[in-house]
Amino acid sequence: MLEIHLDEDDIDRELRADVRTGLTATPKWLPPKWFYDARGSELFEKITRLPEYYPTRTERSILAERATEFARITEAKTLVELGSGSSEKTRLLLDALLHRGTLGAFVPLDVSGAALEEAVYGLTADYPGLVVRGVVGDMTRHLQHIPEGDNRVVAFLGGTIGNLVPAERATFLSALRGVLHEGEWLLLGTDLVKDPAIVVPAYDDAAGVTADFNRNVLRVINQRLAADFDVDAFAHVALWDAEREWIEMRLRAGSAQRVHIRELGLTVDFAAGEEMRTEISAKFRRDGLEAELARAGFALRHWWTDPAELFGVSLVQAVTVA
Ligand code: AVJ
Repeated sequence: MLEIHLDEDDIDRELRADVRTGLTATPKWLPPKWFYDARGSELFEKITRLPEYYPTRTERSILAERATEFARITEAKTLVELGSGSSEKTRLLLDALLHRGTLGAFVPLDVSGAALEEAVYGLTADYPGLVVRGVVGDMTRHLQHIPEGDNRVVAFLGGTIGNLVPAERATFLSALRGVLHEGEWLLLGTDLVKDPAIVVPAYDDAAGVTADFNRNVLRVINQRLAADFDVDAFAHVALWDAEREWIEMRLRAGSAQRVHIRELGLTVDFAAGEEMRTEISAKFRRDGLEAELARAGFALRHWWTDPAELFGVSLVQAVTVA
């Protein structure tokens, strides 16, 4: 079952507003959510299997190790997953909760209707007793569509919270806290601060898949807004911002470019060498994250990581702030 809170018209309106805002700003920027059309989602899946991209497999190993404990602690009746994509790692959680005998429903929420449809189809077939209710929506705007209930657990995995800047994270976490009852849970995956020699290659792989993924946002704009970006004229850039502790992905114009975005009636010029930000991927430390969560009304109850401390999975509980 799929519930749609975001139809093609909404998506179109949002894309237009984002592209107009970002490409007329100085410096230019584009939000990362527009990477993920069908091709972009496939490229991301390919990234998750690259030798340099440690987050996915590390998070999976943590979840595999902790799933039983997670099920015992939360005894979730409803599992909600934000930005679920293919929901592949989530099966570890579903298996543990079904074994525990508490789970009745799984609610994956994603902006990509195509990815969601496939996930819902696969899960419905593989988990006959489970109610699977897919919600097509934007996790920063459609949290109110999380179904009512008790013993709900929200999973937000992959480190995707790192795509938000600190102020956006604060808004998002407070909004999420607002839809949860005291005692309910958030399972949050965060990539951790580490040697840039490990982080940077994860965002600049030898096979060039991330570069292709980065440039895909230009293809999306070309297709959806009748634009004429010369996609190959832009180079992939991934750099570590040591002060803000995030990876920044950019696209750099190799030569001067004039781009027409026909659907917006907009002409945009890039100087040779000009860089446009397309994503940040923040990396976290336990203390900073715990404080951020506390400010939003969540108490860190369990901190799970891998032996090399590459990635962190937090199990946090909605509490009442004094
Ligand atoms: C899906 C947002 C977690 O930030 O690591 C992968 C996206 N960008 N390679 C991340 C991504 C470049 C990814 N998230």
